[in-house]
Amino acid sequence: MGKEYLFIDEKEGLDRVDGKMKVTGKAKYAAEHHPAGLVYAILVNSAATKGRIKSIDTKKAERAAGVIKVITHANAPKVPGYENAPRTGGNPEKGPTLGQPLRIFHDDTIYFNNQPIAMVIADTLERAMHAATLVKAEFDTETFSTNLAANAAKGVPPSNAGRALYKRGDADAYKNAEVQVEQNYVLAREVHNPMELHSLVAIWDGDDKVKVYEKTQGVKSSQRAIMDAFKLPEANVQVIAEYVGGGFGAALRTWPHTIAAVLGAKAVKRPVKLMLTREQMFTLVGYRPMTVQKIGLGATKDGKLTGITHEAVAETSMYEEFTEGTVNMSKFLYECPNVNTVYKILPLDISTPTWMRGPGEATGAWALESAMDEMAYALNMDPIEFRLKNYAERDPERNLPFSSKFLKECYQKGAEQIGWFKRNRQPRSMQEDGWLVGYGMSTGTFGAGRGRASVRGTLSADGTMTIQSAVSDSGPGTATAMTEIAANRMGLPPQKIIFELGDSSMPPGPTQGGSTTTSTLGSAVVDVSEAIKKKMFELVAKEGRGFASAKYEDLSFSRGEISQANGRGAKIAYTELLRKNNLPSIEITLNSQGGNERDRYSMYSFSVHFVIVRVHPTTGVVRVHRAVGVSDAGKIVSRKTAESQAIGGVVGGIGMALMEDAVIDHRFGRYVNSNLADYHVPVHADVPKIEALFIDKPDPHTNPMGSKGLGEIALIGFAAAVANAVYHATGKRIRELPITPDKLTG
Ligand code: MOS
Repeated sequence: MGKEYLFIDEKEGLDRVDGKMKVTGKAKYAAEHHPAGLVYAILVNSAATKGRIKSIDTKKAERAAGVIKVITHANAPKVPGYENAPRTGGNPEKGPTLGQPLRIFHDDTIYFNNQPIAMVIADTLERAMHAATLVKAEFDTETFSTNLAANAAKGVPPSNAGRALYKRGDADAYKNAEVQVEQNYVLAREVHNPMELHSLVAIWDGDDKVKVYEKTQGVKSSQRAIMDAFKLPEANVQVIAEYVGGGFGAALRTWPHTIAAVLGAKAVKRPVKLMLTREQMFTLVGYRPMTVQKIGLGATKDGKLTGITHEAVAETSMYEEFTEGTVNMSKFLYECPNVNTVYKILPLDISTPTWMRGPGEATGAWALESAMDEMAYALNMDPIEFRLKNYAERDPERNLPFSSKFLKECYQKGAEQIGWFKRNRQPRSMQEDGWLVGYGMSTGTFGAGRGRASVRGTLSADGTMTIQSAVSDSGPGTATAMTEIAANRMGLPPQKIIFELGDSSMPPGPTQGGSTTTSTLGSAVVDVSEAIKKKMFELVAKEGRGFASAKYEDLSFSRGEISQANGRGAKIAYTELLRKNNLPSIEITLNSQGGNERDRYSMYSFSVHFVIVRVHPTTGVVRVHRAVGVSDAGKIVSRKTAESQAIGGVVGGIGMALMEDAVIDHRFGRYVNSNLADYHVPVHADVPKIEALFIDKPDPHTNPMGSKGLGEIALIGFAAAVANAVYHATGKRIRELPITPDKLTG
């Protein structure tokens, strides 16, 4: 064993509680469950992009060795939930309509290339894979469109336009400003490529009870989706996700392949495992949508913003409207009297996009923070000075105070760390080792939300405390952070805390998304810890022995003991207290949620990314040479996992800035780089030393820990910082991600 922690060193933080399980391979991921009688499913995908299945021949596949069943729209058992009216209107008789997830194997309609048209179930994985190649389909094809860039002008407002259409003051005021910037920024489609492929094992018990091991960021939401699809009561559906190999948003919702595997397991009356291939990950679990944006900025000659216009058009599928908050940060990040935002979507013959780390804001910050840099250069001002000149002390969108905002401190701390003000601001003025050198920075922000969570806390007479909640940990280290929170609140060493998660039969916890888990769940852990301490207080009050007249506030709960806070007088260990009362344990289950703070304050996390890039003058290769991120994420409750979050965000940001681009060949509507050889993500050699700094000041209003979310702001803005640094290095402004060498040499 490594070092034994008695109490947590706040500076260093706790080691990841499940780290050893993960690195030794003992942690079991969804596809590693092998119940008796397990069989294997493989999806067969459409070669057509739009139209109908004319015929599908499964005979050869059915006759192949080991094949148990081949399911297509022609023979698929009915999914009762598919017959429901779609949530957002439309006629359920006419197949899936806007607003309803793809109904897998429901009918013969093809909405996108690689849509599943059949599923082969066989006794081994290899036999299923082989038989899948024997399924032959013919299609009646129709003309299709998969090209956002060529059709962005055809974008339409989403039906839930909500916050997306916004105006204060005059629209397009930038057009009358002394200094103007008006530019378009293009974000390439980024596909989810977590290490763990989406997979599940579905096990039916009779005809009306099912247990599913699944990769999901929300065991409760996945349970709900399966309950709805198969019309089963909550008690009859159990979803387990003890470990998740990276989520980033792809596992926030239940995708059609999950319904397919559950349906298949029921049909063959055997447990079924389905794991998507890497290629299928490109079309079946969402992606960050390609988005075309226009930013118009107007400023006075001395650098006061007078107008911000932010327009975005993003791609979506023909059967669902996916929307995100791409333009939202432009409304409140800077003090400016005239702001207008427009957000549109363009339905195309592609699969549905989804949230990806920093959803919306990562896309929006790329455009806004690039334009802010362009304006700073147009004004001949330092980009930080320009931002400080337009700093919003209050939220100008809602006209409310921020619950906390230490963005100024982020600018200062990061600038100092990277030596910002020592650089020569002139573009293409710095060189090292034969490379052009550039400095860039950008701001990030994301809402600091808190939802509702239930937890069960059990303090046992053996001195351990177990906490359970039906959440899943897609990687940030939730169990570790919760252990730290509970240890601090309970006055117990962290090794006495056992945090259990990943099972829908536990008290309902939140889906892990939107940087809210620590805030939501941590608050519930605080509440249950306090409730257990109050219960112990009732017991000690009965106990007498110097505690009889003590008030709760006068007691200290520390090192597993209750004592008078002044250090004098009575003292009793939790274990002794429970034993004396003949209690094997104290168990409390409670539900926790915030009050009306959100009506009184605007709650956001903030980050600033600084990078130094090196650009090769001949080849145009860009290397991120150094990255410094400073986060205002409130009080940091778990130092090591927070640093890992910040570092992971930067690695994702390097991919977004320099590499990731899921390319569709618009002649065929088909991806041409749907594998990890052709779709580039950063590897170790692409990642420099990343310095993750925190302001670490508590927010008095977000939650009892004073924390704010961190996962999203770790990425949001990073791509703009790189683009800005590339401009500083080369004098060339790149407005289309990713910044590949051809764009710098062409
Ligand atoms: Mo994240 S996009 O909230 O999983």
